[in-house]
Amino acid sequence: MEKIKLFDPSTSKSEEKSMINVLKSHFWASGAGTNNVQEFEKQFQKYIKSDNTVAVNSGTAALHLALSLLDISKKEVILPSLSFVSTAHSIILNNAKPIFVDVDPHTMCMDPEKIEKVITKKTAAILPVHFGGLSCDLDSISKLCLKHNIPFVEDAAHAVGSSYKKKKIGTHGKFTCFSFHPVKNLAMPSGGLISINDSNHKKLKKILNSKRWCGITNRINSDYDVKEIGWNYYMNEFSAALGLDQLNKLDKMNKKRKLIAKKYFRKINLQEKMPFDEECSYHLYWILIKNRTKFRKKLDSLGIETGIHYKPIHMLSMYKNKKQLPITEKIGKQIVSIPIHPNISNNQIDKIITAINKFAEI
Ligand SMILES: Cc1ncc(COP(=O)(O)O)c(C=O)c1O
Repeated sequence: MEKIKLFDPSTSKSEEKSMINVLKSHFWASGAGTNNVQEFEKQFQKYIKSDNTVAVNSGTAALHLALSLLDISKKEVILPSLSFVSTAHSIILNNAKPIFVDVDPHTMCMDPEKIEKVITKKTAAILPVHFGGLSCDLDSISKLCLKHNIPFVEDAAHAVGSSYKKKKIGTHGKFTCFSFHPVKNLAMPSGGLISINDSNHKKLKKILNSKRWCGITNRINSDYDVKEIGWNYYMNEFSAALGLDQLNKLDKMNKKRKLIAKKYFRKINLQEKMPFDEECSYHLYWILIKNRTKFRKKLDSLGIETGIHYKPIHMLSMYKNKKQLPITEKIGKQIVSIPIHPNISNNQIDKIITAINKFAEI
C-alpha cells in the first residue's frame, strides 16, 4: 500500500549537485571556502527584506541566542504552551521563567487579551509562536509591548515565507527566529536563523556571530580573543548550500502548500479546523478530533500518516505546574496534523479528505 507521509522534504537535482560541490570543496564548516553560509544569510535577508540575518545550526539555537541579547535573567517571559519544547527551553537557558498563556482556539496562537492578564513587573519579554505558519496578531502584541515597555521575540519556526499585513514574517519585531529542520518549509539537515530589525543591526549581528561560535572575536589570521561565553551554534556549509536551493523554490513550494490547505479548508466537513489565510505558509494543517487515537489508527491503516503538534509544554514533567490552560489542554487531547507538503499528489489529497470525512466522528 502506498504511504502518504506527514512531512517530506522536496528536493531535486540542484540539491544533489550542491551537496557534491560542498563535499568536494573539503570546506564543510562555515566561514571558509565555498561561503554558502554568508550567501544564504544575504539571500534570506533579501527575500524577507529585514535589516540583517544570522544563520545558526537550529531553531533552538536561534531562540537561545536571540533571547540572550535581552535583559531577561531572573525575570519572566510569556509564551504559549502549545509549541515545541524548545520555545520554553530557550527561556530556561537564559535563566528566566516561562509563563504559559492559553491560545485562541481558532488560530492556535496566543490570545493577546490573555497575555495582558499575566503581564507583571517581572515580565521581561513576550515570545509568540506563529502556529502552523499562521501569524499571531502582531499589531496587538506590538501595542502591548509598547504599553509595557517590553520587547517581543518571534518563534517563526513554522512561518518561513508567511506574511503579516503583506510584510514577510521576520520584518516586524527586533528578533525573529526561524527553523530549517528537515520537516520545515525550507528544509536543511539542521539549521536556523535570526532575523534582526534594528538601527543597531550591524553591532547586534557582530555579537551574535561571536556567540554562535564559542564567543570568538577579533579574528585576525590565527589570532583571536574571547570576552564572553558562546556556543558551537554555527551553520555548516552543507546546510547553507541546501538552503540556497530551497530558498529559490520556497514560494513555489509554499504555493503548493496553500493550494492543499485551501482544499482541506473547503472540503473537510469539520467545524474545528485550521482557517484558510493567504498569508500563511502552512507548515502544518491541523484538525480537532474527539476520538483521536481511533481516528489516527484508521488513517494509518489506509497508509495516511498523521501527527500530534503538540503535547502542551506545561504538561511535560519538567514544566509541570498547577497553572491551568483549559483551551490548550482540550486542544492537546484533540489536535491532529494531517499531511501537507509539496510532494503530495491530487489523488492523495482527495484520499486524505475522504478518509477524514468518513472517520472523523468514529
Ligand atoms: C515552534 C517551534 N519552535 C522551535 C523549534 C526548534 O527548531 P529546531 O528543531 O530547528 O531546533 C521548532 C522545531 O521543531 C518548532 O516547531
